[in-house]
Amino acid sequence: MSDTLSKTETEEIIQENLDYTLFSWSKQKGSNPIAVKHAEGVYLYDYDGKRYIDFSSGLMNVNIGHGDQRITDAVVKQMQQVSYVTPSSVTKVRGELGKKLAEICPGDLNKAFFTLCGATSIENAIKLARLYTGKHKILTRYQSYHGSSNGAMTASGDPRKLAVDAQQAPNFVHFDLPYLYRWEYGEEALLKESVAALERIIAYEGPGNIAAILLEGQSGSSGCFLYPKGYLKAVRNICDKHGILLIMDEVMSGFGRTGKWFGFEHHCIVPDMIAMAKGLTCGYLPFGCLMVSDRIAAKYEDAVLPLGLTYSAHPVCCAAALETLHIYEEDNLIDNAATMGKYIDEQVELLKEKHPSIGDWRNEGLLGCIELVKNRATKEPMAPFNAKPDEMLVMNKVAAKIKELGMYTFVRWGYVFIAPPLCITKEQVDEGLAIISEAISIADDYVN
Ligand SMILES: Cc1ncc(COP(=O)(O)O)c(C=O)c1O
Repeated sequence: MSDTLSKTETEEIIQENLDYTLFSWSKQKGSNPIAVKHAEGVYLYDYDGKRYIDFSSGLMNVNIGHGDQRITDAVVKQMQQVSYVTPSSVTKVRGELGKKLAEICPGDLNKAFFTLCGATSIENAIKLARLYTGKHKILTRYQSYHGSSNGAMTASGDPRKLAVDAQQAPNFVHFDLPYLYRWEYGEEALLKESVAALERIIAYEGPGNIAAILLEGQSGSSGCFLYPKGYLKAVRNICDKHGILLIMDEVMSGFGRTGKWFGFEHHCIVPDMIAMAKGLTCGYLPFGCLMVSDRIAAKYEDAVLPLGLTYSAHPVCCAAALETLHIYEEDNLIDNAATMGKYIDEQVELLKEKHPSIGDWRNEGLLGCIELVKNRATKEPMAPFNAKPDEMLVMNKVAAKIKELGMYTFVRWGYVFIAPPLCITKEQVDEGLAIISEAISIADDYVN
């Protein structure tokens, strides 16, 4: 019998993908992807009919849930009218979307420059901050992620950048902000020391050379580290004191993910620019936006704005985004994220009693992760930062169990992420947490 006939449809699909396409951030050999046939709400279904509960909303982007017909309808309607116009033309939907975003954003963040994804929002934020201020350095945090294009990758403080270390873009300076679980001296000291360290770095680098500080609205794939209370306010004040712009990267934490429209709103600050993507269209189409203040935009009333993309303000993406924003409101998804987030907090507290491997749980709304440890007293991690393959043996078993039990989620080093779509119900949370509980029982056996 030929090889082809003996293969299931699923195996054939996976093989063709492996033979002819490349996969991000992984060795090409030995990967075992899920072949998704369709998806609805919080569930993915493969070609064999197996159901997976999506506990990371894809890559923390499918906030409204999968398969929403309202987006398909809005996209089809727009395509039937016009699919593409140049960015120098206008469409009804572009203006409507810009207006809606200005309503959602606080302060004078009223002008939208539409991009294609998170990285293009960040690249344009960096470029504009330098042009606007006439200064060149960008300060960002270690343990952060801002995208994989050259500037965004250099801005990131993530080990994914180490492979391309020699290609770093110039004039980025990183600073450390330790996280509370692995800081011995309490939150007050953490705030004081971190703010003092940032002020020192600004003095060393020269405030007259620093265009912007770039920070995630809330930390995401680095481990959902919560800012010490008062930190972002202090950063805002430092920026104001030195004429430095504050750029918030809300690519992952934006659009209800943390129980508010934007992560920074938990800290009562208003940035000068917001980089957006992911939850803006929830992955139905790739899209992004750089929202800028009236003050910044005013500079380009009579001067050329030197930013441009062939697909900026793509009408079909604008239509998808506008409908997505309606859905957040119509379905009350942001309140649901806050409510479900609190429920998950309570349930994870109960899991801590059952599982000695749970060291820490960090969460805001539906952007959280469990950190697994080998020992609660010493906090020895189940897998260290930037773990090598042989340090991932236990966590790989946990991840494999999660998949086997019918869950798709993000497992990185010793972290298991819990970031389901904002439409999740209590019953679905229970279903997902039961899978996570069973999977991390494996890690409990390695606690010493
Ligand atoms: C905080 C943050 N910024 C930027 C990006 C880059 O977005 P994209 O992959 O759409 O370029 C990501 C992606 O995960 C992100 O989490």
